[in-house]
Amino acid sequence: MRILSGIQPSGQLHLGNYFGAIYNWVRLQNKGEECFFFIADLHAQTVPYDAATRPGIILELAATLIAAGVDPKKSTLFVQSQVPAHTQLSWILSCLAPFGELERMVQFKEKSDANPQAVNVGLFTYPILQAADVLLYRPDMVPVGIDQAQHLELTRTLAHKFNNRFCPADEPLFKEPQTLHSTTIKVLGLDGQRKMSKSFNNYIGLVESEEAIWEKLRHAATDPARVRRADPGNPDICNVFAWHKLFSPVEVQGERAEGCRTARIGCIDCKKTLFTHMNAILAPIRERYHELMRQPDDIRQVLEEGAIRARKESAATMEKVYNLVGAL
Ligand code: TRP
Ligand code: SF4
Repeated sequence: MRILSGIQPSGQLHLGNYFGAIYNWVRLQNKGEECFFFIADLHAQTVPYDAATRPGIILELAATLIAAGVDPKKSTLFVQSQVPAHTQLSWILSCLAPFGELERMVQFKEKSDANPQAVNVGLFTYPILQAADVLLYRPDMVPVGIDQAQHLELTRTLAHKFNNRFCPADEPLFKEPQTLHSTTIKVLGLDGQRKMSKSFNNYIGLVESEEAIWEKLRHAATDPARVRRADPGNPDICNVFAWHKLFSPVEVQGERAEGCRTARIGCIDCKKTLFTHMNAILAPIRERYHELMRQPDDIRQVLEEGAIRARKESAATMEKVYNLVGAL
C-alpha cells in the first residue's frame, strides 16, 4: 500500500501530535508500507508567522520526526515547498473546485472567525493545495486526524472531477484515496479538559527537557473531586491516569488505579510514577533529537534526498496532467 501524510511546521511537536499522528506513521512505515511524509510549510503560511524563525522550525520538526521513528531510508521525507508540483497542481485543481464547497469548510470558518482581520485567499484555498499534495502521489491511504476528514472528502471530489472531465473512462489519472482515522489516540492537555494543543498552551513537547516536563506534570489537572475532598479518587475521570495508559506498563496501571480508588496513594506520587515511565519512552527520542540537531546540514541533506524522490514522482504526474488539460 502507498501511504501519504503531511504535518505543518507550526511549533514544537507535542504528545498529542505524537500519539494522534506520528506514532501511526511510524507503525505503517515499519509494517513495510510505501510511505511519503512531508512538512506542509506552504499550508503554514496561511496564518501569520515569523519568516525569520521558520527555517529553524522546519529543521527541528524534521529532526523530531526522525527521532520519533520516521526513517528516511524507508520513507520519503520531504518539505512541501521544495517540490514545485504541489503548487502547480493546486492551480489546476482550483479551476475545478466548487466555490460553495470551500465556503462550507469547517476549518476555514473556524480559522477566519478566530482572526477576522487576517483572512487571506490562501486560507480559503488551503484544502485545494492539500488535495494536490495527496493526488500527486496516488496514495491508497491518507492517515490524518478526524478534523481533516472534510479536506479528504474534497480531495476525492476533485480527483473524481478531474478524471471525469479530462481522462478516458477506462484510464483515470487520479486515485480516490481512503482516509485512515482508525488507530489514532486522542490526548487531552494538562488542563484535563481540552485536547492537547499549542493554541491552548496545555501541551507537553515530545522533546522537551526532563525538568520542564516534570514542572508541567506537577501542576497537571487530576480528578477534581479527589482534590476537593481528599477522598479516594476515580482514575477513570483523571487525565493523569489516561496518560498512565499511554506510558506505564499494565501492572503499574492496575496498581495505581487501585491506589487511587482507595486513597492509598497521593496524586504527586502517582505523577512521579507516570513521569518515570514517560521518561523511559521520551528520553531516547529526546537524545536522538539533540544528536541530529548538532548536525543541521545532515538534516538538510536528508530532506534534499527526500525532495529529489518526491520531485521525480510528482513531476511524472504533472506531465500527464498538463497533457490531459490541453497545455501545449
Ligand atoms: N492540513 C493538514 C493538517 O493540518 C496537513 C496536511 C497538509 C496534510 N497537506 C496534507 C495531511 C496532505 C494529509 C495529506 O493536519
Ligand atoms: Fe489521578 Fe493518580 Fe491522583 Fe488518582 S492518584 S486522581 S489517578 S493523579
